[in-house]
Amino acid sequence: MALIMDGNGRWAKQRGKERIFGHENGVEAVRDTVKAAVEIGVSYLTFFAFSTENWCRPDNEVNTLMQLLVDAIRNETPELNKNGVRLQAIGNLESLPHSCKKELMDAISLTSQNNKLIVNVALSYSARWEIANAARKIAEKVKNQEISPGDIDQDLFSNYLETGNIPDPDLLIRTSGELRISNFLLWQIAYSELYFTPVLWPDFRRKHFYQAILDYQKRERRFGKTTEQLP
Ligand code: IPE
Ligand code: IPE
Ligand code: MG
Repeated sequence: MALIMDGNGRWAKQRGKERIFGHENGVEAVRDTVKAAVEIGVSYLTFFAFSTENWCRPDNEVNTLMQLLVDAIRNETPELNKNGVRLQAIGNLESLPHSCKKELMDAISLTSQNNKLIVNVALSYSARWEIANAARKIAEKVKNQEISPGDIDQDLFSNYLETGNIPDPDLLIRTSGELRISNFLLWQIAYSELYFTPVLWPDFRRKHFYQAILDYQKRERRFGKTTEQLP
């Protein structure tokens, strides 16, 4: 499953507070969703936490958000370990402030033996950046004659994406009522079911997560076939 956590700023604004207050309150929503995912046996959960485009926000918001990430990763790691959750990250991690990258790498290594749920955080991530990167890496291999153009198919291409070891999401959830993808996992969601909820991210709790899954379970995934052809 994948989640676009959106609406923190509006949540704060509704309360007459600074946008960062919304980000701070979004941490509890992540915590509750992760716990719910462990309890019902979800294997992979990818959170969109910060996009390439989000670097264009005011410096103050970006800096505070990065500090919040450092604190959240540090505070949550023991709980992740307790629940058997393994942390991973995708995106241009080199572009993160040093302290943030270090905290992230430490948490990834501290949780690397866990196998109940993989929580994958997309940070400084955008799908077009990822796809262009994959194309460049493949081009270099072709240039060095390590692979030939004829070897390039969908499976090979997928392996060069950031999500190489993570299956495509069955369900993508976006909060806050926006009906768009905002450059998230474009390749991987080719056949994902999409679920949009008006709930703002800081208000998102396990009951909303379960509602999304119940909705998903009522859908018929045909993958191009007819209903009659399905098992
Ligand atoms: C999502 O909430 C968090 C990030 C993008 C980092 P927003 O900050 O986008 O909140 P809104 O959409 O402005 O309400
Ligand atoms: C998408 O939310 C990115 C994250 C949730 C991290 P945005 O709030 O940045 O998306 P747009 O700009 O409204 O499309
Ligand atoms: Mg937003």
